[in-house]
Amino acid sequence: MEVYLEKQQITSVIDALKAKKLTIGMVPTMGALHEGHLQLVKKALTENDKVVVSIFVNPTQFDNNEDLVKYPRTLDSDVALLETVSKTDILVYAPTVNDIYEGNAVSQEFDFDGLEFEMEGKFRNGHFDGVGTIVKRFFEIIKPNTGYFGEKDFQQLTIIKKLVKKYNIPVKIIGCKIHREANGLAMSSRNTRLKPEYKAVAPFIYKTLTTAKEKFGTKSATKVVEWVEKQFATHDLLDLEYIIIADAETLKPLKRKSNKKAYRAFIAVYADDIRLIDNIALN
Ligand code: PAF
Repeated sequence: MEVYLEKQQITSVIDALKAKKLTIGMVPTMGALHEGHLQLVKKALTENDKVVVSIFVNPTQFDNNEDLVKYPRTLDSDVALLETVSKTDILVYAPTVNDIYEGNAVSQEFDFDGLEFEMEGKFRNGHFDGVGTIVKRFFEIIKPNTGYFGEKDFQQLTIIKKLVKKYNIPVKIIGCKIHREANGLAMSSRNTRLKPEYKAVAPFIYKTLTTAKEKFGTKSATKVVEWVEKQFATHDLLDLEYIIIADAETLKPLKRKSNKKAYRAFIAVYADDIRLIDNIALN
């Protein structure tokens, strides 16, 4: 499998593929690949001739330098994992920070019509400007027909849909269901950093979300949120950062239920110093 470290190399290969009228899917990642990523790659392969997987820990989307430094970097095992999916149709783009940012690793400022100020936007300063900057850059370099993103980062997926629409980027965005461990824990590259005692209790997050979903059938959003907060208030190891029930389209907190709208519950929890997020469709 070819691993391209520089944009000049990959763009000449992409140009040749485009000249042959082959379709290209793209799965942007920060590496430390797991089964959830492989599901995105497999879906992309069924819908495209070739798939570019980018592996790049993007510094501009981290507001916490320790999180950036500690983010797992496992290129060799990532490539080995991708080879189990296809040896011929996947191209890996693993650039350096300099190849992408050319000495100026700062974010562009975006206006995502307010989506960026909800939930993660409140807790991670500048995060979505960083995500918007790198995804736009990748789409300019690779020019894929389609981009694939997981619903675990549902707000990110919503913002990327807004990015391509608002900034006229000709890439179709596909969202893919959250891939979970057998115990319900949403797959995440951060899970590899969980100490055993935290890994053991982390499935509590999804278990609480599924019960919240049941309760949402008969109770108000406020009551469900209070119930979730209570579950975590007495938990020894997990610290709730937020639980929000929001409109799945605008991401604004739900004020009054309407049966014409789709709602989701969004959660962020600290397990020790590892921040885990998850979400669930409620109706
Ligand atoms: O979801 C991620 O891993 C990242 O935010 C992304 C989309 C690869 C951009 O760096």
